[in-house]
Amino acid sequence: MCGVVGYVGDKKAQDFLISGLKRLEYRGYDSAGIVTLAEDGTPTLLRAQGKIVNLEEKLAKNKRDDKIGIGHTRWATHGEPSENNAHPHRAGDIFVVHNGIIENYKELKEQLKEHEFKSETDSEVLAALINSFYHGGKYNLADAVVQALKLVNGTYGIAVVSTKNPDEMVVARSGSPLVIGVGNDETLIASDASALVGHTKRAIYLNDGEVAVITKDSIEIKTLNAEPVSAKVEEIETNLAAIQKGGYEHFLLKEIMEQPESLTETLRGRVNVENGTVRLGGPGLTEAELRKIKHLIIVGCGTAYHAGMLAGYYIEQFTPEITIETVIASEYRYRSAYIPKDSVALIVSQSGETADTLACLREIKKQGVKTIGIVNAIGSTIAREVDGGTYVHVGPEISVASTKAFTSQVIAMVMFGLTIAQAKGVKSNILRPYVEEIAKMPEEIRKVLSSVGDEVKGVAKKYCEYEHAIYLGRDTAYPTAMEGALKLKEISYVDANAYAFGELKHGPLALVDDRFFEVALIPRGHLYEKSLSNVQEVLARGGHVLAVTNADDIGLSVDSVVKITTSLEIFAPILMNLVSQLFAYYVTVAKGYNVDQPRNLAKSVTVE
Ligand code: M6R
Repeated sequence: MCGVVGYVGDKKAQDFLISGLKRLEYRGYDSAGIVTLAEDGTPTLLRAQGKIVNLEEKLAKNKRDDKIGIGHTRWATHGEPSENNAHPHRAGDIFVVHNGIIENYKELKEQLKEHEFKSETDSEVLAALINSFYHGGKYNLADAVVQALKLVNGTYGIAVVSTKNPDEMVVARSGSPLVIGVGNDETLIASDASALVGHTKRAIYLNDGEVAVITKDSIEIKTLNAEPVSAKVEEIETNLAAIQKGGYEHFLLKEIMEQPESLTETLRGRVNVENGTVRLGGPGLTEAELRKIKHLIIVGCGTAYHAGMLAGYYIEQFTPEITIETVIASEYRYRSAYIPKDSVALIVSQSGETADTLACLREIKKQGVKTIGIVNAIGSTIAREVDGGTYVHVGPEISVASTKAFTSQVIAMVMFGLTIAQAKGVKSNILRPYVEEIAKMPEEIRKVLSSVGDEVKGVAKKYCEYEHAIYLGRDTAYPTAMEGALKLKEISYVDANAYAFGELKHGPLALVDDRFFEVALIPRGHLYEKSLSNVQEVLARGGHVLAVTNADDIGLSVDSVVKITTSLEIFAPILMNLVSQLFAYYVTVAKGYNVDQPRNLAKSVTVE
């Protein structure tokens, strides 16, 4: 979603603001802006619709040595993408950048008659509200911010500066992330630690309901109720290489190709092949607590939801007497679902900031159910609010389409399932094959990625003119098909949907015609023959089937086959998903679309 950056120090603020905003581009945006203040408070406000290069064109004619400033990339919610709606917003002497949504903005706007509104945004209402307290000198900037925030319903991560006090910035958060980078004679802020990489390794993650007054050499944090907060300085683990393309044309391809390494990080210190066991420290559940688990609820959105669904299919194969329900966070948060006793909830999120997933986490916690995070972004809100958790450690995922996170989320959850099964005394001969395949998986991924690339590229060229796609699979290949369809639709804009093979005859088979192609995921195993029968049904109706399989020869005259060679049987669908990832990538490249930042989407969905 939107990105926020800010700088106060001895260097040129404009430099950090622009480089910081560029680092946040991956989150998705449609306009950008910065404001800096000169020593005497004179502001330079630059805003532009579209990409940051448009802002840079304006910057070229307005270079300043100013040492303080704030910046923003906007992903439109209230009001179209336009220069007027871009942040920072001005009200009187103050400028505000805001991530999140002010839900009661209409009601507040009614009361702010003195301000002449120039945008359609809820964020300008917040600026005007702060100014209504600040103007006239009754409150200093920090107190004016606090007074305003007490009247606000919604979510925010904000940074505020005033032309009257060009040494100081006020930031606050509730529901939208905000990180303060502690530098030498400089303090930086951002909505995402990746903007701070290369500037400082020390960061303070603001909590909901906290406000910080920042100068170049001081950070004072309080709650909205004026209680002082002692800041915990944490280390930023990300390095520069992790947020650069490293020779690849797109982040997406880099992230697909680095899965052998990213999964190795997920497994590090957690798998003991000799004993056939896994060990996860993070969840923090005792053996007795693990034994008591009777119900697993897995919560996520998009790819995280698919990862949860796939992991659920695996976990129920080896964990006795457990029911598993995987739910879409945006639905679950408003359902009246009863959560049985002895449940544990897995909260799955790459970014750790997804609004719906976070809302579910809070709701589930209220019901006294233990929550375990399966999160990538270290220090993110979900990671901090869960009772325990397992980081997947895949490093920054920059491309909007999630790839390496999916693979590691599935395996991290399966490992959690294995720890439950171990505690429940499931025989090692049942669990060992899973552990052994997990341990082998990074190498198997490497082999598949290094062998199928050109072939998938060729196949993608063949199918890139179609407007509709159907992904099909059974059992563990079904959630895998769902993930494949999501990948294709979100970056190539092909209308792709997934169905369980068995559902074909209940409706989707009617779709099959020359406008469609079908991606059939056909792993060997007990449902192999049944899947082949379903493919035959599609072929008999003139389908254009692309089969992805680990079988030697499926014996059907489909349009195309991508065969993966692997010793994995249980987790073969995860390797097939690599083919889906590459396929989506190459179709998108062939169509000439923006691979890493698909239209209308954002990397981190911090509003519901
Ligand atoms: O950060 P999260 O894992 O919570 O994000 C969940 C979804 O927004 C995300 O997976 C989204 O569906 C991706 N664009 C899929 O590629």
